[in-house]
Amino acid sequence: MVRLILTRSSPVIFRLNNLPGISYLAKFSSLRIQRLHKHKLSPKTSTFSLISTSSSSNFQRKSLYCTGARMCSLPEKESLKFGDDLVVLGIETSCDDTAAAVVRGNGEILSQVISSQADLLAQYGGVAPKQAEEAHARVIDKVVQDALDRANLTEKDLSAVAVTIGPGLSLCLRVGVRKARRVAGSFNLPIVGVHHMEAHALVGRLVEQDLSFPFMALLISGGHNIIVLAHKLGQYTQLGTTVDDAIGEAFDKTAKWLGLDLRRSGGPAVEELALEGDANSVKFNVPMKFHKDCNFSYAGLKTQVKLAIEAKEIDAKCPVSSATSEDRRNRADIAASFQRVAVLHLEEKCERAIDWALKLEPSIKHMVVSGGVASNQYVRVRLNNIIENKNLKLVCPPPSLCTDNGVMVAWTGLEHFRVGRYDPPPPETEPDDYMYDLRPRWPLGEEYAEGRSDARSLRTARMHPSLTSIIRADSLQQQTQT
Ligand code: KG4
Ligand code: ZN
Repeated sequence: MVRLILTRSSPVIFRLNNLPGISYLAKFSSLRIQRLHKHKLSPKTSTFSLISTSSSSNFQRKSLYCTGARMCSLPEKESLKFGDDLVVLGIETSCDDTAAAVVRGNGEILSQVISSQADLLAQYGGVAPKQAEEAHARVIDKVVQDALDRANLTEKDLSAVAVTIGPGLSLCLRVGVRKARRVAGSFNLPIVGVHHMEAHALVGRLVEQDLSFPFMALLISGGHNIIVLAHKLGQYTQLGTTVDDAIGEAFDKTAKWLGLDLRRSGGPAVEELALEGDANSVKFNVPMKFHKDCNFSYAGLKTQVKLAIEAKEIDAKCPVSSATSEDRRNRADIAASFQRVAVLHLEEKCERAIDWALKLEPSIKHMVVSGGVASNQYVRVRLNNIIENKNLKLVCPPPSLCTDNGVMVAWTGLEHFRVGRYDPPPPETEPDDYMYDLRPRWPLGEEYAEGRSDARSLRTARMHPSLTSIIRADSLQQQTQT
């Protein structure tokens, strides 16, 4: 039986059909099957069993029905044991960091390289997509080469290449995907498309060996503020999300308006200044106090901060380092008060989300808190209290794995690769204007009915189907075919 599983909108489908494809695939197939035998993975679970010697028209016909994710029949626990000697290169360019890393199947980080766009961030006061794309393009080759060099490996030693395909800025995602496909195409490697937010969550399983499904994850970054229940790999229920801005965006704007040094991004600058301030001095309202759901909102708090800054006549053009001592104290008080209320909002929603999640999955033991804002010490301490009070254990990766990085992408790629979810190698060359499968607006999970928000449902245009729905549909398709 032929089962071809490729991304529905994947350009690979169409490219392969134009190739003397089948012999190419057959070569790839036998090579990889040897490798999979080495790793004790049954070929039945791999993509290769799905590629038979059938005619290319059959190949094409089948591919049109496919939904995008690969499934395998390995029990989850068993699959984790396999593939310790797999080695995956992860590439991340969804926002303003160009990152690459090489990770082994046993979780060993062989290398990690990040090139950040700090100067651009400071110059534009935020991420400017075109400039960010150009900056990624300038450094991507070097970042990937450094990651391989530091791991003391060449491309030939890799088992697969993983790359973030969404959500994020399409111009930026494109740079990483193009590079990943060039490496994979040149060295005949399978390729795994990774969901950026899933990667933030799953890196928890790299740092905490005991972390098994189901678990909860609060993912807090510059563009996202979601709380999910992770049932299995690729299967998430979204309990809450932001109806407007994410907490990281509020930290960044607060930093900008307070005249802080943005070269390490706004969050760390606010956290540092907040240490000098009185967190109860400025009375900010906690957002969505009376909403009995798990959603977030930071736009109103941003406005409150702006008004407080104007009331104290703080001039953002005057850097905090040159401010008078009174001016500096005012800024520190605002930073501390903002941080207290921003985090209180997280605490309140987390408490409720844990109650909801425990009703759905009473066996949950852990909550992962990840994403750039999770590197904040105050956030970690406050959320730890809430999570421990509910008898769960907090899993918070070290700051270098909370902010965007290549390790989380490589690791998530490994998790999916081990269970047979990946695309075969792309062709060796692709034109520069090639239509890549990029998913700038790509939800992670299916919304929990009680958490639905009318405000948010207006903003669903041009959204890709969620990772969870794609994987579920494929799983159903697989069941009906066996
Ligand atoms: O996950 P991330 O690196 O990139 C996105 O996916 O957005 O998160 C970046 C966000 C930025 O808004 C940054 O200001 C924030 O994380 N951040 C922090 C801290 N470190 C980074 N926010 C508060 N405190 C920090 N220490
Ligand atoms: Zn991120």
